[in-house]
Amino acid sequence: MEVKIVENAKDIQCDALIINKFEGENTSMDLVNKYAPEDFTGKCGQVFSIHTRNEYPAKQIIAVGFGKRENIDNNIVRENIAKAIKKCSELKAKTVAISLDTDYNYGGPAVLGAEIGNYHFDKYKNKKEHKVNEIYLSNIDKELVERSVVVSDSMKLTRNLANEPAAYATPTKLAEIAQNIQGIETEIFNYAKVEEMGMGAYLAVAKGSVEPPKFIHMKYIPQNPKKRIAIIGKGLCFDSGGLDIKPANSMLNMKDDMSGAAAILGVMQAIGKIRPDVEVHGIIAACENMPSGSSYKPGDIVTAMNGKTIEVDNTDAEGRLTLADALCYACKLEVDEVIDIATLTGACVVALGNTVSGIMGNNEDFIRSIIETGKIVGEKFWQMPMYQEFRDNMNSDVADMKNTGTRYGGTSAAGMFLKEFVTDKVKWAHLDVAGTAFIDKPYKEFCKGATGVGVRTILKYLISQ
Ligand code: BES
Ligand code: MN
Ligand code: ZN
Repeated sequence: MEVKIVENAKDIQCDALIINKFEGENTSMDLVNKYAPEDFTGKCGQVFSIHTRNEYPAKQIIAVGFGKRENIDNNIVRENIAKAIKKCSELKAKTVAISLDTDYNYGGPAVLGAEIGNYHFDKYKNKKEHKVNEIYLSNIDKELVERSVVVSDSMKLTRNLANEPAAYATPTKLAEIAQNIQGIETEIFNYAKVEEMGMGAYLAVAKGSVEPPKFIHMKYIPQNPKKRIAIIGKGLCFDSGGLDIKPANSMLNMKDDMSGAAAILGVMQAIGKIRPDVEVHGIIAACENMPSGSSYKPGDIVTAMNGKTIEVDNTDAEGRLTLADALCYACKLEVDEVIDIATLTGACVVALGNTVSGIMGNNEDFIRSIIETGKIVGEKFWQMPMYQEFRDNMNSDVADMKNTGTRYGGTSAAGMFLKEFVTDKVKWAHLDVAGTAFIDKPYKEFCKGATGVGVRTILKYLISQ
């Protein structure tokens, strides 16, 4: 989508003009005020469209409800502009002007909403989805719009990768994409090097697949960084469950098990362009979890990079094994903070559904500030408990721990497992996006499929340091 900044968006000859309506107020267009039905009150998300019959430069006007004027914020603008853009698509509009009646600095969230709402993964379809391809805005902050384009490009990269079949988005492909991101340095470690580094937990998972694992380390290192932060994404390019194979229904969407990795690639792409004063390490232990003659087996005992031993209780609890070594590696970099993002537990989907992500960690203030950042950008996080009981369930008779506990409290158990691989000096937060990374019905500005969850929160957190 091309974004054009013009003198007055209302004067542009285009297929549709988007305006807003506040509750209890008239809109800026008489045509809408005159012909909209009474129940078009301006409540958030209401949409009314009307043909202009050549009375105006735009062929149609799309009015969208914004709620009460005093409640306007970025989330309201982004979500409702996304809604209006979807309406434009329905009406087959290609060129769209946006002119909002408000003092609010809406350019940034309007562009982001338009881009998110306009997204479809139709690469493999012969008949493409209708998309808006030009938007016009006026009276907006150019810099904020440019920033939104960077963020939405990142989200597109993330969503595309998570929507891609596993046959395309392999560990090798993720490594190649990482190496092509501008403005950052990337190092890739192959099987032999990973083995040499002692990542026995990660390799146990990887060895059952014919796809070679790739350990990806992306670096953005500015002159005098205010902080040093590592961000880690779970990169299971496909999770069949391994020998503890998943039933067909549960395996269906497991190409999305690298959504965390995809989010990290998206964030790093934006970091390379925005170039903040904070050092960022993007880390992905990419592999597949497959059943085969070379697979790891229940009962195997594996050793992570920090020397801790793990009895494999269930080969489907593989994400935490790959993250264990990635966390050890990140802590060795002696960064100040580590954030990991992972489609880690089905239990998190049961607990929080498809619109709220789980969060845990070892520092309350750090967790709190990520939750607050999420609120600002419109991503919801809910803290899950970390108690010793969850860890006790993972005691093993033959190793330092097992990789699973009981059936219950699975999200917290996974969190307690990961904690074993984080050194006390580093502040750590773990985001469980199993329910939010990939959705099976449209939600707010998102269509079915990958949402790019985490990109906005992590990016916002990094650049506000
Ligand atoms: N990738 C899955 C978690 C998942 C489930 C993500 C549903 C997205 C949607 C993870 O590797 C997994 O299989 N977890 C198991 C752990 C269990 C064996 C302890 C689970 O949650 O069932
Ligand atoms: Mn699994
Ligand atoms: Zn998994």
